[in-house]
Amino acid sequence: MLSLEKNLRLGLRPLAAALTAFALTAGLSAAHAADDALPKIANKKPLRVGFAQTESNNPWRLAETKSFKDIAAKCGWQVVITDANSSAAKQVSDIQSMIAQHVDLLVFPPREEKPLAPVVLQAKKAGIPVILVDRNIDQSMAKAGRDYITFIGSDFIDQGHRAADWLVKATNGKATIIELEGSTGASAANDRKKGFDEVIAKNPGMKIVASQSGDFARDKGRQVMETLLQAHPDVTAVYAHNDEMALGAIAAIKAAGKQPGKDITIVTIDGTKGGLEAIAAGELGASVQSSPFFGPLACDVAQRYAKGETVPPWVKVSDRFYDKSNVKESMQYGY
Ligand code: AHR
Repeated sequence: MLSLEKNLRLGLRPLAAALTAFALTAGLSAAHAADDALPKIANKKPLRVGFAQTESNNPWRLAETKSFKDIAAKCGWQVVITDANSSAAKQVSDIQSMIAQHVDLLVFPPREEKPLAPVVLQAKKAGIPVILVDRNIDQSMAKAGRDYITFIGSDFIDQGHRAADWLVKATNGKATIIELEGSTGASAANDRKKGFDEVIAKNPGMKIVASQSGDFARDKGRQVMETLLQAHPDVTAVYAHNDEMALGAIAAIKAAGKQPGKDITIVTIDGTKGGLEAIAAGELGASVQSSPFFGPLACDVAQRYAKGETVPPWVKVSDRFYDKSNVKESMQYGY
């Protein structure tokens, strides 16, 4: 590292020298932060675990939070839970205050891929181990296995492929589709769109005529669907990135005097109780499961990592698939 004194000796003006020295120091410490070993998980009970939730406005999020509450005692965790109310900025500040409190472990689903990456590096710098669950962050900004222990979650691209494959079959390869996207900037929305669009692009009879965010929320999904239906009254299929938006779309379709499941075929992702009931009622065609039960998985991974076992950078969760052929016996998996 070049010191400020050395810059001065080299004849640089003081302010420029100070800035150069600062930039070099900042650059070097960023590089060091990336190279440093990952923080360890303390071998103590109770372990103070911070769980920073993104929002609590749908059954999926409630089931995820509950899975952490339910596992806490068994895992020897004392869990501190926050709720970011659908704001990435609030989630960042929730996590920063957990870092300031020096929790022993941070576990969270990053609401969006980019805004949550810097706080993962801040935790690492503060010596706090991090496990990401459900959604991931931008791997060019912070990397699993280097900057945080691991990402535990589903393959969202594959979920999009599976939803599209089902829709191609169900419509004999001919459909005019509205896509209801999840929260803008979330890995779940980006990857579910990528996977679905990839398959649709290979099927010339399938056309996506509109694609808009419904923020993974039922009422937003209903509103967006209402507007898009007016612009595209000839639509024959809907792909919603989650069950809640699909249920909102079903309400909008009915309000427009059409029959969901007959006039418009709907495919979605999650496998909530409401989603499974809509399949049983013939209004929803299919739902790819996306499991929200990360508490026990995170506990297991944390304990293995604490014992010194190697944890892969992605602990992949495998998902079921529901349609009318198996919905009756699958009701037990709804949440
Ligand atoms: O990240 C997973 C998605 O986020 C779920 O599909 C959705 O319901 C939730 O809000």
